[in-house]
Amino acid sequence: MYKIVKKEILAPNIYLMDIDAPRVAKSCYPGQFVIVKMDEKGERIPLTICDYDREAGTVTIVFQALGTSTKRMAEYEVSDSFRDFTGPLGCKSELVDEAPEELAKKNILFVAGGVGTAPVYPQVKWMKEQGYEVDCVIGARNQELIILEEEMKKVAKNVYVTTDDGSYGFKGNVNDCIKDLVKNQGKKYNLVIAIGPVIMMKFVSILTKELGIKTIVSMNPIMVDGTGMCGACRLTVGGKVQFACVDGPEFDGHLVDFDESMKRQQMYKTAEGRAVLKERE
Ligand code: NAD
Ligand code: FES
Repeated sequence: MYKIVKKEILAPNIYLMDIDAPRVAKSCYPGQFVIVKMDEKGERIPLTICDYDREAGTVTIVFQALGTSTKRMAEYEVSDSFRDFTGPLGCKSELVDEAPEELAKKNILFVAGGVGTAPVYPQVKWMKEQGYEVDCVIGARNQELIILEEEMKKVAKNVYVTTDDGSYGFKGNVNDCIKDLVKNQGKKYNLVIAIGPVIMMKFVSILTKELGIKTIVSMNPIMVDGTGMCGACRLTVGGKVQFACVDGPEFDGHLVDFDESMKRQQMYKTAEGRAVLKERE
C-alpha cells in the first residue's frame, strides 16, 4: 500500500499529492510516469511524475478530477493509501541522458498547458540542478487555473504566464505567447518541449515547424498495462506505430499523428461517460 503523505488543492479540481513510494522515488527521472490504482477493482490511472524526493522517499503527482476514477481519487485524504503505485514507467526525458556539452548548446523553451505544467516542472528543475536555466511559458484558461507558478519561478530563468481570457499575465493561448516571444521580442530557441492537452501540443508543433524549432511533446493516451503488451496506448509517429508507455511518453512533435490520437481519446471519453452514467443509476 502507498500512503498519501501530503494533499493540496492547487486550483479548482486540480490536486497535488505526495505519495510514500521509496522504490519509485529512488529510481525515477523527469519525463517518466506511474500508474496508480486505488483499490482491487480500481481503474489504472497513468500520471506523469511531477516531483520526487529521493531522501524522503516520496513521489509527487498532480491530477485533474475529471472522470469517475479521478473524482474518487480526489476524495482520498492524507493517511489514505493507494493499492498500486507502479513505476517508474516510460523513458526518461532525453535531456537526462544528454552530455553536458550538448545541453549547453540548447536554448530551451518549455511550454506548459494547464495541468501539463505539473510534468514540465521536474524537467525545468532538473535543468537548473545541472546548471542550465531555461524559459517557460505557462498557459491556462484563466488566472484561477494557473498552477505551480511560484515553484517554476524558482527554477526557470524566465516564466511567461498567459491566460486565454487575459485575467492574468499575457492575453492569449500558449501559441500567441510563443509568437510574441519569438517574433516581437526576438527570443531565440532551438528546442521547444511542450506538455499539455493534445490539441495544444498539435498546434504548438504546427507553429514550431513554421519557426524551424525542434519540438518534443509528451503524450498521455489511455494506458492499461503500461508495459507495451496491451496496445492501448498506441499512436503513430513518423508513420510508425509506437507505444507511449514504452517508446515514450516523449516524441518528436513534428512527427506525431495528433488527429489519430485525439480520435482514440474520444473513444475513451465515451467509456468514461458510460461510467459516469452507470454511477448515477
Ligand atoms: P486546457 O484545456 O485548460 O488548456 C490549457 C492551455 O493550453 C490553454 O490555456 C491554452 O494556452 C493551451 N491550449 C489549449 N488548446 C489550445 C489550442 N488549440 N491552441 C493553442 N493552445 C491551446 O487544459 P487543461 O484542462 O488543464 O488540460 C487538460 C488536458 O491536459 C487533459 O486532456 C489531460 O489529459 C492533458 N494533460 C496532458 C499531460 C501530458 O503529459 N501530455 C499532462 C497533464 C494533463
Ligand atoms: Fe498497454 Fe502501452 S499501456 S501497450
